[in-house]
Amino acid sequence: MIWTDDPTRLLLVAGLGASYGLVCLMPWLRHRRKRRAALRAKAEAAASASPGWIVAYASQTGNAEALAQQTLATLRLAGIAAQLSELSELDADDLRRAERILFLVSTYGEGDAPDAAAAFASRLMTTELPLAQLHYAVLALGDSAYGQFCGFGRALDAWLAARGAQSLFPRIEVDRSADAAIALWRQQLSHLAGTSDAPDWSAPAFEDWRLSARVALNPGSAGAPVYHLELTPPGGVLPDWQSGDLVQIAAPAEPSRPREYSIASIPADGGVHLLVRLHSHEDGGHGVASGWLTRQAEPGQTVRLRLRQHRRFRLEDNAGRPLILIGNGSGIAGLRGHLRARALAGQGRNWLLFGERNAEHDFHYRDELTALHQAGRLDLDLAWSRDGGAARYVQDLLPVRADKLRAWVAEGAAIYVCGSLEGMAAGVDGALEQILGRARLDTLVTEKRYQRDVY
Ligand SMILES: Cc1cc2nc3c(=O)[nH]c(=O)nc-3n(C[C@H](O)[C@H](O)[C@H](O)COP(=O)(O)OP(=O)(O)OC[C@H]3O[C@@H](n4cnc5c(N)ncnc54)[C@H](O)[C@@H]3O)c2cc1C
Ligand SMILES: Cc1cc2nc3c(=O)[nH]c(=O)nc-3n(C[C@H](O)[C@H](O)[C@H](O)COP(=O)(O)O)c2cc1C
Repeated sequence: MIWTDDPTRLLLVAGLGASYGLVCLMPWLRHRRKRRAALRAKAEAAASASPGWIVAYASQTGNAEALAQQTLATLRLAGIAAQLSELSELDADDLRRAERILFLVSTYGEGDAPDAAAAFASRLMTTELPLAQLHYAVLALGDSAYGQFCGFGRALDAWLAARGAQSLFPRIEVDRSADAAIALWRQQLSHLAGTSDAPDWSAPAFEDWRLSARVALNPGSAGAPVYHLELTPPGGVLPDWQSGDLVQIAAPAEPSRPREYSIASIPADGGVHLLVRLHSHEDGGHGVASGWLTRQAEPGQTVRLRLRQHRRFRLEDNAGRPLILIGNGSGIAGLRGHLRARALAGQGRNWLLFGERNAEHDFHYRDELTALHQAGRLDLDLAWSRDGGAARYVQDLLPVRADKLRAWVAEGAAIYVCGSLEGMAAGVDGALEQILGRARLDTLVTEKRYQRDVY
């Protein structure tokens, strides 16, 4: 009998053969498992090292931020992994690692970066970081009425190019939110993302609100007339907004160039309150929007208006902190909005430092503010530039109150500044720097505890 005829033997041999095969296969299987694990780890490492596309924005009043959000939505709709980041959140490592960044940045001051991006501009854009791996595009927002049109967007683009980064397409400049430039960005984006399926980018429409009341706040003042306006929404249905937000008003003579105003009320007030100063030109003519709102439009008449979120000036995470509110002139509008939100929430640690011309004529909302002060819910410091007191301007109040300011900031206070860019904002910033130091002030900006609505 040959051995293959014996089933027991056959099984034994087969079993031995299989075991032998298995023993021979084991190292290969182990090697394959290891290789797979290594490949998986490598893929995971690569994925975390390359975060896909970054949409980075620097925005003061929210235009660039809104466009950044729409840009992100378009990329995601096309199946592209992308993350949204404020420019200030990016550090040198992020830039060195990133392969594609879309920058949407506006310009403030005189050709400067928006507040939140000032540290990025001063710390990173002064370095010689090698960025040859980076592909980027810049959407620069600005207003050609300013000397340094799109100054920050241009500086950022020039710095990236000098660092060896490669632009995906030439910088697009948006003059006063011009639709054509935004459409071009959207078109380039669709092309890059390989999609024609972009979400709707249209800005919210203007609506017909009603001017329900107008009161002159400073009769007899040496300064330009200031008015308190109340507006009610179409159909009486109040939309939602938060203190710190803005409205845009389209005056009939210039509907395509709306003007911005800080909202001085909260929804619980039943309408949008504005404080509008009549703007006059050297030839004696009045400003288009302020002239129309304060002189031409009659109570009962329609005003074309839309609300704008102003995230950089909202309370948000600062709602639980003590508030230091600093402003001058029409800047009381944005600060009053916050005070009304605080009163509604029952929060009483508020300190207002305010400057105007004469106590007699220019103490806007005097009754309201003194009532809060007397109720112990508002610390009040006032500077009257024409009354001959020790402090002429609001910034002069700060050195006198330096110890209190340091103490409030140490206790976690947030600082909100509203009003004139010229004179006031720089003066206040300088005084805060003297008291707190630039590094501390920069940290407060990063922590969103130093917020400005200045114009
Ligand atoms: C964030 C922000 C908040 C503001 N809050 C207040 C407020 O609470 N109260 C207040 O009284 N004022 C506020 N202003 C100023 C206000 O927007 C107007 O600039 C002011 O009322 C003068 O406008 P005007 O049309 O009367 O004057 P105009 O002289 O007709 O215009 C003023 C200037 O704006 C220029 N301009 C032209 N088109 C535009 C445009 N589309 N957008 C902006 N400027 C343009 C003009 O060239 C001119 O130099 C704020 C401005 C900003 C940016
Ligand atoms: C106080 C102030 C200063 C500005 N300075 C400039 C400037 O120097 N150059 C410019 O091109 N645009 C300037 N602008 C226009 C803004 O860049 C423009 O309104 C932009 O759309 C704002 O976008 P944002 O809402 O994202 O900040 C300025 C606007 C304001 C209110």
